[in-house]
Amino acid sequence: MPSRLGSIGFQWYSSPFGGILKAVRGMHDIFGSEMAKWKWIETQVRSVFETFGYQEIRTPVLENVEVFSKTVGDETDIVEKQMYQVTKENESLVLRPEGTAGFMRAVLEHQLHREPSIQKYFYYLPMFRHERPQKGRLRQFHQFGAEFINDSSPEADADVIALLDAIYRKLGITEYDIRINSLGCLECRPQMKETLTGFLRPALPNLCEQCQKRFERAPFRILDCKRESCREITAKGPSLSSCLCTKCQTHHTQLKKRLEEAQIPFIDDPSIVRGLDYYSSTAFEFTSSLLGAQSALGGGGRYDQLAERFGEKPFPAVGFALGMERLVIALEAKNAFPQPHLFPKLYLAPLGERALDILFPLSLQLRRAGVWTEISYESQKSLKAQLKHANRLQAHFSLILGEDEIGKKVALLKDMAAQTQTEIPLEGIYENLLNKVNREN
Ligand code: HAM
Repeated sequence: MPSRLGSIGFQWYSSPFGGILKAVRGMHDIFGSEMAKWKWIETQVRSVFETFGYQEIRTPVLENVEVFSKTVGDETDIVEKQMYQVTKENESLVLRPEGTAGFMRAVLEHQLHREPSIQKYFYYLPMFRHERPQKGRLRQFHQFGAEFINDSSPEADADVIALLDAIYRKLGITEYDIRINSLGCLECRPQMKETLTGFLRPALPNLCEQCQKRFERAPFRILDCKRESCREITAKGPSLSSCLCTKCQTHHTQLKKRLEEAQIPFIDDPSIVRGLDYYSSTAFEFTSSLLGAQSALGGGGRYDQLAERFGEKPFPAVGFALGMERLVIALEAKNAFPQPHLFPKLYLAPLGERALDILFPLSLQLRRAGVWTEISYESQKSLKAQLKHANRLQAHFSLILGEDEIGKKVALLKDMAAQTQTEIPLEGIYENLLNKVNREN
């Protein structure tokens, strides 16, 4: 295959090193206008987390494999086949496939659940899952996540769902459904399991191989199978919500009441079981028609027993995560990104060494004052060439300084859009430019 750079003469970049010039499958570089979109989303989402009182936490990208194998569940896709393993000396590590297990490890390690003042944490981190890449499904993707600990009330669940709802609204996305369910607790889950397995047992030979494997150890995961033949069977299943204990039923009813009061529309959907094993009680998913096949915008639920899987005393916790790349797809589908303001205020065009001596320190002074300033270091280039560059960058003003101007102790300030030009004295030029630029803001 010819090198991409071959046409401009770098033949040595071609095979056998060609593969090095490609990002790993399912992982992307983010730059240019894409980066501007990401930064805009990041600012908006962070501001919503702040108004809900969430504090940021960052956990390492590598965790011991047990952090996930003991918590996310042996029978889940993530643990079964999607984890990127890194083995070094006698450590078996994985690149984090999701944020909650690592968050819980950090909470227990630092005893954060005993800290009464902070209960709400958010993160914004890259995640890694070895999935089959397609639109909205990547091998490295980014999640915003929220985790609210030490509050077992249905109001905390409603608070977290309202937070996710507020994030999408802040970004101008309203085209989504909120589906909620209760997965039961330690008390009622055995009854739910018995009812489900009782129904599924006669249909076992007709389930897919994966579901047959999951029947004994993780029958609830069968409800999450995407195969049409399995879905047809589970759709005819009994209502598991009738197996909920009184406490779970009351919790779920109260959550629904709170969401109604907050005017957050939702669908009570018993098929929401989530793809991770640590949930109990409330589970929820936000799905959007803007996304295509990978329709989950975000999801989460309560995980009051997760600490036990680390051998610690449990405490209540509820949270969610949303995929950044899916947010970008949704916003692009709506054409809802604001125009990025990516233009320098000033372009300094020195014509000759002496002009560069004057403009170089001026450029740094202006930047220190917060003015986006570009400068040409190729002072031997013609005025025409320098202004062409200023135009390409879409600079608002250009400041031109040549030998004639230095002789007259002035510089020329050109408004690039209006094509007007004024002389300004070199003495006091910094203050003068600052005033001018601030007036234009
Ligand atoms: P999750 O449902 O596995 O939950 O992921 C949450 C969101 O991450 C999904 O709804 C989707 O937007 C995005 N996502 C997942 N996989 C991919 C992928 N391969 N490519 C692009 N985006 C993806 C969790 O991860 C839980 N830790 C959420 C949670 C937090 N539960 C309680 N607290």
